[in-house]
Amino acid sequence: MKTTIFGATGNVGSRIVKEALMRGHKVTAVARDEKKFSTLPQGAVGRTGDVSNPEDIVLLSKGQDVVISAIRPRPGNENQLVETTRSILAGLANTNVRLIISGGAGSLIVPGTENRLVVNDPEFVYPSFRDIALACVEQYQLCEAKENVDWVYLCPPAVLKPGKRTGTYRTGKDHLLLNTDGKSVISMEDLAVALMDEVEQPTHNRERFTVAY
Ligand SMILES: NC(=O)c1ccc[n+]([C@@H]2O[C@H](COP(=O)([O-])OP(=O)(O)OC[C@H]3O[C@@H](n4cnc5c(N)ncnc54)[C@H](OP(=O)(O)O)[C@@H]3O)[C@@H](O)[C@H]2O)c1
Repeated sequence: MKTTIFGATGNVGSRIVKEALMRGHKVTAVARDEKKFSTLPQGAVGRTGDVSNPEDIVLLSKGQDVVISAIRPRPGNENQLVETTRSILAGLANTNVRLIISGGAGSLIVPGTENRLVVNDPEFVYPSFRDIALACVEQYQLCEAKENVDWVYLCPPAVLKPGKRTGTYRTGKDHLLLNTDGKSVISMEDLAVALMDEVEQPTHNRERFTVAY
C-alpha cells in the first residue's frame, strides 16, 4: 500500500517506517528538515512538509492509501498538537485517504473507576507529561467530532518505550489495558506492529482502539 508517514523521524514514527517497509509498503516519510533524510532507512522516500500547513497534507497525501501521523511538538509547545491535528483533518477532509493517528493514552478510562480519564490520574501521567497528555485528549476529541475523515486513533498504553519487537499485543477500546501486575506498557516496536496490522486489516472505523501487553 502507498503510505505517507508524518513524524517519520521521531521515536514512534521511525519504528512505523521500519515496520511498513519490512511489510513491503511504499513509504513516503515526511520530515520538516531534509537534513533528517539521512536517518531514514533504505526504501523510504523522504519528502519535506510541515503538518501545520493543510496544503502540505493535501500534497503529501494525494494518491496515497493511508496517512499515518506520529507527530509530537517539541517540549513547551504541546498545544501545537491541537493545531497540527486540525490541519491534518482539514487536509484529508472528503478524501478517500485513510488516517491513522498514533496518539496518546490520556483520553482512555482508568479501569475500575467511575470514568476517570488517564490524563487525570497521576499514577499513570506524571506532572511533567500532563501538558502533552491534555493535548492528546483534545487531539482525540477533534477526531471524534470530524465526520468527513476516515480516521482511526491508536491510544498507546501509559508506558510506551523503545524495546523489542515481539509481534504480540492485546487490544482494547475505551479503557487503559493493564497487565496482571497492574502495569500498562508496550514497546514502540510492537505499537508499530499493531498500527500496521490495522493498516493492512482495517478493523476500526472512526473510533479509537488501544494496545498493550
Ligand atoms: N503513553 C503515551 O501516551 C505516549 C508516550 C510517548 C509518546 N506518545 C505519543 O506518540 C506520538 C509520537 O511521539 P514520539 O515520542 O515519537 O515523538 P518524537 O520522537 O518527539 O517525534 C515527533 C515527530 O513529530 C515531528 N513533528 C512535530 N511537529 C511537526 C510538524 N509541525 N510538521 C511535521 N513534523 C512535525 C517531529 O519532527 P521534527 O524533528 O521536525 O521536530 C518528530 O519527527 C505523540 O502523539 C506522543 O504524544 C504517547
